[in-house]
Amino acid sequence: MRPVILDIDPGVDDALALLMAVHSPELEIIGLTTTSGNMPLDQTTENALKVLELVGRTDIPVCMGAARPLVGEARHAYEVHGAEGLGAAELPDPEAMPAGDAIDFLIEGIEARLGEVIVVATGPLTNLAMAEAKRPGILSQCRRLVIMGGVLHEPGNISPHTEFNFHADPHAARQVINSGANIALIPLEAARQLWLDQDLLEARLAGRTDALARFCAAATQTVMAFETQLYGRRGMHLHDPLAVGLSIFPALCEVKPMFIDVEPEGQLTSGQLVVDRRPFVIDDHLVGRQVECAVKVNVPGFLELFLDRLLQ
Ligand code: BDR
Ligand code: CA
Repeated sequence: MRPVILDIDPGVDDALALLMAVHSPELEIIGLTTTSGNMPLDQTTENALKVLELVGRTDIPVCMGAARPLVGEARHAYEVHGAEGLGAAELPDPEAMPAGDAIDFLIEGIEARLGEVIVVATGPLTNLAMAEAKRPGILSQCRRLVIMGGVLHEPGNISPHTEFNFHADPHAARQVINSGANIALIPLEAARQLWLDQDLLEARLAGRTDALARFCAAATQTVMAFETQLYGRRGMHLHDPLAVGLSIFPALCEVKPMFIDVEPEGQLTSGQLVVDRRPFVIDDHLVGRQVECAVKVNVPGFLELFLDRLLQ
């Protein structure tokens, strides 16, 4: 089993990623760290606790992290994930409480198992940047960071050139990308290859009345309605579950090493990925860091894995 920390901002697709992870025997989830992102921090933390209680995994600690980005104001995505972040799902108030501070948990968790821990980050990268600032070099002590964020060349989903997670905390994204850690990045182009058809989900849920199935049906309603309007077909993209998938089976994606950096300040471009594609450089130095970027996803392979694990 691979020790994993999920750094998340649930959010519907974070919740699906979490369910996929808890049902994956390859992963030992040592804890969750929550961040402000799709929802304010209190709500993402409550949602993480609720989802764990749904599947009886209150043994997994949930630690609260950053309530705002390193610079500026938090931004959220109510229109995509619903007023409380889990679509139309209504789960009971959690009984468990948050277990402690996310930054310390990340540092201690990584240090306890040097070179072993995979951090799967599916929200703004504030917690990881804060851990690196508090303990320089800590992110390089992970086996790998699997990050969902940024967009390479397609249109963004929150501004013309930016993806939500990197746009929500561009300074943190920049610090993490430049930390020297071993990073696998899932940019929007890769996540957009994964479409969960509403008919397919409904077929898999047919005849099931258990709490997990009811949650999946209700939680996906709001995002599916939003994306159906955008794309003209019934369903949704699976951004965050792909990060969990990649932490289990790296071969699910074809990756390409790229030199990338993140624009932290631009008036129209803060959070934009800058890809240095120059075939030559004057001073022998490409900008940013070399990161493995997912470029092509094994879609049928991933969907099978996702649905099997999600609905286990
Ligand atoms: C990312 O933004 C959030 O809304 C999703 O949870 C995902 O992490 C996609 O851009
Ligand atoms: Ca997310």
